Amino acid sequence: MSRLFEPITIGGVTIPNRIAMSPMCMYACDDEDGKVTEWHLVHYASRAVGQVGLIIVEATAVTPEGRISARDLGIWSDDQIAGLRKLTDLVHSHGSKIAIQLAHAGRKATVPGAIAPSAIAFSEEYTVPEEMSQEQIRRTVKAFAEAARRAKEAGFDIVEIHGAHGYLINEFLSPLTNQRMDMYGGSTEGRYRFLSDVIDAVRLNWEGPVFVRISANEYADGGNSLEAYIDYARRMKDQGVSLVDCSSGAVVPHPIDVFPGYQVPYAHAIRQSAGIATGAVGLITEPALAEEIVRNDRADLVLLGRELLRDPYWPLRAARALRAELPKPKSYERAW
Ligand SMILES: Cc1cc2nc3c(=O)[nH]c(=O)nc-3n(C[C@H](O)[C@H](O)[C@H](O)COP(=O)(O)O)c2cc1C
Repeated sequence: MSRLFEPITIGGVTIPNRIAMSPMCMYACDDEDGKVTEWHLVHYASRAVGQVGLIIVEATAVTPEGRISARDLGIWSDDQIAGLRKLTDLVHSHGSKIAIQLAHAGRKATVPGAIAPSAIAFSEEYTVPEEMSQEQIRRTVKAFAEAARRAKEAGFDIVEIHGAHGYLINEFLSPLTNQRMDMYGGSTEGRYRFLSDVIDAVRLNWEGPVFVRISANEYADGGNSLEAYIDYARRMKDQGVSLVDCSSGAVVPHPIDVFPGYQVPYAHAIRQSAGIATGAVGLITEPALAEEIVRNDRADLVLLGRELLRDPYWPLRAARALRAELPKPKSYERAW
């Protein structure tokens, strides 16, 4: 019996199988208004028809200046709720669960007004961000709370906080990007405080499961170690986070040696040492590897990114390869 196709309940939400779509920016909004377009509806619904258990909607900006690009999806205004509701209803009608990744790009924003814990540019191609005052920190934490309220009104099942890839939260966590000497920097504890505040603020407005995506390896000297992230994961668990989604890199410009399953060891180590559910992601394309990850308890969910862009029906293909039974869309039954 395939474990990949067994349902799993996380934080009270039952996901029909262990396959999740990794959040991927589509940069597909019209008019720079952050609203859901027909592209998003077709794109995400296709993966739900393909029987992906959990669809994690792309990085969605909690403030306009927190966008990576002007065409990012947004959740900073109540005007954006109706489109998101249409998206969750559509995905639910095909049997998948749906999460939203709440994000702030920090110093990697390419729209005006980039802010960060410290005034250090990501690279020469980026602007030098403004160092955030404590008032700006409070306002940004509140923006995450407001976004969580909107996610609830829009009908999402799960909220994922984007703490990876060198965006704002990751910039607070990493000593490479956080040189503050106030309560939001200066020590492991201080650097965690911004994420801690965001988790608490989100949980005030959101009763469902909260996931956090991290970059568990910063690849550069002086960056956070995996041990530091195990410590952070324990803190997240104490704050009620349900799952740590283990990505890596992009905190500072640095090459990464990628190969199938290259980030799985982080999901495994954090799961074992912090005792929290994890998601594994990164060059997982083969059904046998996905099955191995969950069967050997290396992670609770397997996230696929680019492979699901290439093949929205990957779960149907994987079920065939693993000889698992998977419900097929009724209208497609004659194909099987
Ligand atoms: C087009 C594209 C957009 C992405 N956007 C996001 C994003 O919005 N949030 C995020 O956490 N990761 C993002 N990623 C990273 C993916 O979620 C995933 O972690 C990465 O592609 C590795 O998984 P894969 O080898 O299965 O593609 C993006 C990747 C791609 C290819």
